[in-house]
Amino acid sequence: MISVQHVTTSYGRTVVVDDVSLTIADGGVTALVGPNGAGKSTLLKVIARLLQADAGVVTVADLDVARTAPEVLARRLAVLAQDTQVPVRLTVRDLVTFGRFPHTRGRPTAEDHALVEEAMAHLDITDLADRYLDEISGGQRQRAFIAMVFAQDTDHLLLDEPLNNLDMRHGAQLMQIVRDAADRRGTSIVLVVHDINAASVFADHIIALKDGRVVTQGPPQEVMVEDVLESVFDVPVRVVEVDGYRHAIHLSGRLARPRTG
Ligand SMILES: Nc1ncnc2c1ncn2[C@@H]1O[C@H](COP(=O)(O)OP(=O)(O)OP(=O)(O)O)[C@@H](O)[C@H]1O
Ligand SMILES: [Mg+2]
Repeated sequence: MISVQHVTTSYGRTVVVDDVSLTIADGGVTALVGPNGAGKSTLLKVIARLLQADAGVVTVADLDVARTAPEVLARRLAVLAQDTQVPVRLTVRDLVTFGRFPHTRGRPTAEDHALVEEAMAHLDITDLADRYLDEISGGQRQRAFIAMVFAQDTDHLLLDEPLNNLDMRHGAQLMQIVRDAADRRGTSIVLVVHDINAASVFADHIIALKDGRVVTQGPPQEVMVEDVLESVFDVPVRVVEVDGYRHAIHLSGRLARPRTG
């Protein structure tokens, strides 16, 4: 379980995560949604100990992240940040092998190598294994980073906008991998997504953040409601049901281009 209790975080004097409390149960997929600047990435960084909160407590599997050694936390929690830089000239396989570092301390065994190959195969990047990260496409690089995170083989995963840059097929593949990890391995996954319809279809729980606060949360059928979405995103929205799943169609394009006829 991930527990966030009264977490407040600011940059300088600006509070961007404002007294947030939430719990994320084991073995499910939670989608964190909300407008740009809502504080989603900041909250994820605090949970992953990449950023220190001003106040509050975060626990992951009963470990207080602020008091847990990074190498201990890294065996329980993996994170894909939104602003990951490619540090040096690395191949895809090198990067994915880094995912094993918390377990291997730089001495990967045959089993580690097998996990690396498996993660690359899952993300459909085996053919790219020997290519350099700065010589592949944005979506391919995104998949390499996701493979690294999966290779870390933790029971908690935080993914900040993992669908970024992915085409429809690879987006669908990623959602399948995420669902499988949750359903078959009991991994707890929190991901930030802007595609609310993806969240509706494959998440168990949706948490909406706005101005640093949790404004609504619940199963998709409770969050995928017109006035709820309109209040979170400040755009007019229609919700339609397709094959039993709720989809939101936002009408902001229509606002930009009112019908003339
Ligand atoms: N390093 C930083 N220094 C100062 N302010 C920051 C920094 N990072 C983020 N912010 C500000 O904090 C607020 C929350 O940012 P955050 O990145 O958490 O938003 P987000 O919900 O992830 O948005 P997006 O959907 O655009 O990724 C924003 O107003 C942003 O400008
Ligand atoms: Mg963000």
